[in-house]
Amino acid sequence: MEEQVKILAIESSCDETAAAVVVNGRTVKSNIISSQIELHKLYGGVVPEIASRKHIEKINQVIEEALETANETLDTIDAVCVTYGPGLVGALLVGVAEAKAIAYAKNKPLVGVHHIEGHICANYIEHPELTPPFMCLVASGGHSHLVKVVDYGEYEIIGRTRDDAAGEAFDKVARAIGLGYPGGPKIDKLSREGNPKAISFPRAKVEGAPNDFSFSGLKSAVLNYLNKCKMQGVEVDRADVAASFQEAVVDVLSDHAVSAALECGMDKVAIAGGVASNQALRAKMKEKCQKNNLKFYYPSPIFCTDNAAMIGAAGYYEYKKGVRDGLDLNAVPNLKIGQR
Ligand code: KG4
Ligand code: ZN
Repeated sequence: MEEQVKILAIESSCDETAAAVVVNGRTVKSNIISSQIELHKLYGGVVPEIASRKHIEKINQVIEEALETANETLDTIDAVCVTYGPGLVGALLVGVAEAKAIAYAKNKPLVGVHHIEGHICANYIEHPELTPPFMCLVASGGHSHLVKVVDYGEYEIIGRTRDDAAGEAFDKVARAIGLGYPGGPKIDKLSREGNPKAISFPRAKVEGAPNDFSFSGLKSAVLNYLNKCKMQGVEVDRADVAASFQEAVVDVLSDHAVSAALECGMDKVAIAGGVASNQALRAKMKEKCQKNNLKFYYPSPIFCTDNAAMIGAAGYYEYKKGVRDGLDLNAVPNLKIGQR
């Protein structure tokens, strides 16, 4: 029988305090998330100071609940994995300090995990048949990347955003049409009542870099459209704006993901990160992958947005490779993919 590696995973890079117990990188025994969204809503975005303070308040409780739900204790787990970057430094430090304390007190191996690698590995949780190599589109609040997953723990970035991340564009446009934070899920919902062809917004291409993204022009186009309507006294149909903006983002993300997969000779494509829970993106990817004979993978929404189960999945493969961190592990706010 295969050896069982039980990992306690911790995530605190932004506005969710999360802990999970994951077995052999694929089986989630518990996945506890304490979201701070309600707090940050008041300010229209994440306030780093508040995020750190809230993580400190919640982290012990969240870990206890994760262990209890999984019917495990700090003594029965085999290793501790923790997000150490990228993210908000004060927020990351809470998870890292907690993981180090557990590793020291219980003499358990410690493995630092890259947050984006975690998002990618969320795809392993519900798809036991998914193995590298594959192409992954990572679209979150802070990142928009096309990543070639060469092997477990081996990544090559082949496209990135030149300005705003896709999720950031969703959040900014949502604010402009008065939907509040976080904008992605709200635009997703409102779009269902709107016409995606109502307004023609631009699909930007980056010259000489066909895999790269640029969303700031699209964001400006939406703002200009809103201003023009206001000046002309025309009432804005917010659902049409949301649907037309969303379709522009989804067209670009899905086009790039599919053409990058074909260009690299991949037959599998996955999506990851908060924006991967977007219904229109999932539908468009399904359609384009089917047309191009590509197998398409996506995590359930709960594993798309920030969670610790994905950190346990990514951490397991690092652990298996023999990666171990010392008690000098530090938070690295601008950590690069594949960097150690
Ligand atoms: O991955 P994530 O939870 O945190 C980061 O690592 O950034 O992603 C959060 C981002 C936010 O910008 C949020 O608006 C966006 O993902 N998001 C969505 C949806 N759900 C979350 N964007 C579009 N459609 C959604 N359904
Ligand atoms: Zn994230």
